[in-house]
Amino acid sequence: MSLFDVYPLFDITPVKAKDVFVYDKNGIEYLDLYGGHAVISIGHSHPEYVSSLSNQLNHIGFYSNSIQNPLQVELAQDIETLSGCKDYQLFLCNSGAEANENALKLASFQTGKSKVIAFKNGFHGRTSAAVAATDNAKIIAPINAQQEVERFELGDLKGVENALAKNDVCAIIIETIQGIGGLDEVSTEFFKGLEALSKKYNTMLIADEIQCGFGRTGDFFAFQKHGITPDIISMAKGMGNGFPIGGILIHPSIKASYGLLGTTFGGNHLACAASLAVLKVLRCENLMENAKTVSNYFAEKAKAIPQIKAVKGRGLMLGLEFDFPIADLRKDLIYKHHIFTGSAKNPNLLRILPPLTIQKKHVDLFFEALKKAL
Ligand SMILES: Cc1ncc(COP(=O)(O)O)c(C=O)c1O
Repeated sequence: MSLFDVYPLFDITPVKAKDVFVYDKNGIEYLDLYGGHAVISIGHSHPEYVSSLSNQLNHIGFYSNSIQNPLQVELAQDIETLSGCKDYQLFLCNSGAEANENALKLASFQTGKSKVIAFKNGFHGRTSAAVAATDNAKIIAPINAQQEVERFELGDLKGVENALAKNDVCAIIIETIQGIGGLDEVSTEFFKGLEALSKKYNTMLIADEIQCGFGRTGDFFAFQKHGITPDIISMAKGMGNGFPIGGILIHPSIKASYGLLGTTFGGNHLACAASLAVLKVLRCENLMENAKTVSNYFAEKAKAIPQIKAVKGRGLMLGLEFDFPIADLRKDLIYKHHIFTGSAKNPNLLRILPPLTIQKKHVDLFFEALKKAL
């Protein structure tokens, strides 16, 4: 049987990884500035993570959501403590798309409405309502296109208000910092405007923190810089450091009822053990502080490279904008200099999404290689 060929692959076969390095089957060491697409938060194979998962597996790896699972309660408490988001309720699932799917569904249940407002260049996942809210016609199948979505330019508050005034919108969904779209982030004024409008028109404001959340920007959630209180916050990627887990934080004003949401695998024992280990390491190793420090160092070093026209993003969710397409540069970085980086919808943008454990010496390695590659 062959694999369904949907991914253009680099010819590299990783067999081992440690902290910010990945090793292929030939023993070549790669510096990982991509983190498997912003997933690796506390570093590959962190000892705390390995022991938490192995220990859990030796006790119980899985049972359904029909029994008590104290690990879920502990996870909810730890997320509240580290994020400072008080009294939200946690619903656990298995991926980013599923988190947004549940967020949108819940918004529709809560408001009794069905239209979604989303933004140009936004990405929210590949399933039903999540993919319909995503700005990429190529991945929206006819079955998804029936979902009513109205899309606006980032910053177009007037357009958003005109749409809300028709009173059929259940949710406004926005990535606090766009990932694949190219690291754009709107102003605090715009976020506050969205918050006020969603209250005025009984609509749920969903902050998609799947990529930018869980410490990546140096704040636990990227929206916290803007001082807003979303109705629903979606999370995944860095939450499990590679173990599939996603979730939504639900504002206390939204009431649960039995059967409203549900999942077989979501919140299983192993997934909780992975995420608890992530939170412990984030806290004990001050990784959010590290994200800010290394980010500033990175931006300083970027200034010395004339070919870099702009540094976009925040913390360890960065984009280096060149005035030429970066596809060949990215290949050189991987094959000649053994450094993983990411690409974006903007062909001139090189994305940097390293584990939050990265140190200045690793940034130095990158810039030495980048200079040679350029
Ligand atoms: C902002 C954002 N939302 C949602 C998703 C979908 O997550 P997943 O691939 O886990 O379904 C992604 C994945 O890249 C993302 O970056």
